[in-house]
Amino acid sequence: MMQRPFAEMASIGVAVPPGVLTNADLARTLDTSDEWIVERTGIRERHIAGPEQSVAMLSREASEIALERAGITARDLDAIVMATATPDRLLPSTACDLQALLGADRAAAFDISAACPGFVFATAVAEGLIASEQSETVLVIGAEKLSTITDFQDRSTAILFGDGAGAAIVRRKTGKNGRGILSTFLKSDGKLAPLLYRPGGGAANPISEKVVCERSHYMKMAGREVFKAAVLAMAEACDEALQRAGVSADEIDLLIPHQANVRIIEATAKHAGMSMNKVMVNVDRYGNTSSASIPLALDQAITEGRVKPGSLLLLVAFGAGFTWGSTVIRW
Ligand code: ACO
Repeated sequence: MMQRPFAEMASIGVAVPPGVLTNADLARTLDTSDEWIVERTGIRERHIAGPEQSVAMLSREASEIALERAGITARDLDAIVMATATPDRLLPSTACDLQALLGADRAAAFDISAACPGFVFATAVAEGLIASEQSETVLVIGAEKLSTITDFQDRSTAILFGDGAGAAIVRRKTGKNGRGILSTFLKSDGKLAPLLYRPGGGAANPISEKVVCERSHYMKMAGREVFKAAVLAMAEACDEALQRAGVSADEIDLLIPHQANVRIIEATAKHAGMSMNKVMVNVDRYGNTSSASIPLALDQAITEGRVKPGSLLLLVAFGAGFTWGSTVIRW
């Protein structure tokens, strides 16, 4: 019988499209201001992909960096688990397109839909594939082109979202170096779906002239209600991952929360009793990139020297569904 940790996160790679949309840019077409957006969300700018930058292409760029940093090639992958709320096509999965782009010939590839905590959900799936000895080496990706489902005429949502991709190599733990995924926690509440959703464009309400005219293929959100639910869910997710890992918040070197709104992040840190200097924040540069947000924050924390071998990390996220989840990782 294998003992936890079964798996370790060996590396991270990220990609963002070069195009930047600032708050000032948005204020040119919407009744909003840089001051309002910064005060209510902490966001200053976000990256927006052009038509030539698909989710699969952004994912390829992020994945190739993660593969190189882990010292492996695409041929070593047993599985590709892609979290996205914005697949390039509805059939087949974007993971299959990515598999072809990478030349990961041996891998099984599939998408999961878990909105903003998608990277945490995909990491848990990868850990499960490894624990059940289905896979040894898994590519986990969170990648989004939220700009394609954002209504740029709606100031309550247009200011929040951005595009990007983050990839991680999760592999069977070998050796006694202390690294590993120490706990995971996943939860959902589908009764709250209408607070943040895309009414049209799926099988229940297929794309049509009516859907497009009503703009119901874009995200709709009850911001204040989502905010309140996010604060509660992030708190529960912190507590559960810590308890399951058998560690206290004091032992965590860095909290890496989903980057949706700096006020939600501050409330989460307060609940965990952690000072903001132990919390990664980069929502100012990227906005909410949904499933890409945690790997984008983790990659930046590594680059800045805030995560080193042996660092104890708490990753926690919340999103549409509602869905929420968390994991404690020894880096
Ligand atoms: N610029 C200026 N004014 C605005 C804007 C804007 N961009 N947007 C809304 N307002 C106005 C509203 O119309 C309202 O005006 P009123 O008082 O005259 O009615 C006022 O500002 C306050 O609106 P609220 O919605 O109450 O503002 P709030 O402080 O709640 O901030 C926000 C809104 C930023 C959306 C916040 O509620 C939030 O961050 N919610 C959580 C969002 C989130 O995390 N979503 C993602 C989940 S993850 C996923 O799965 C994608």
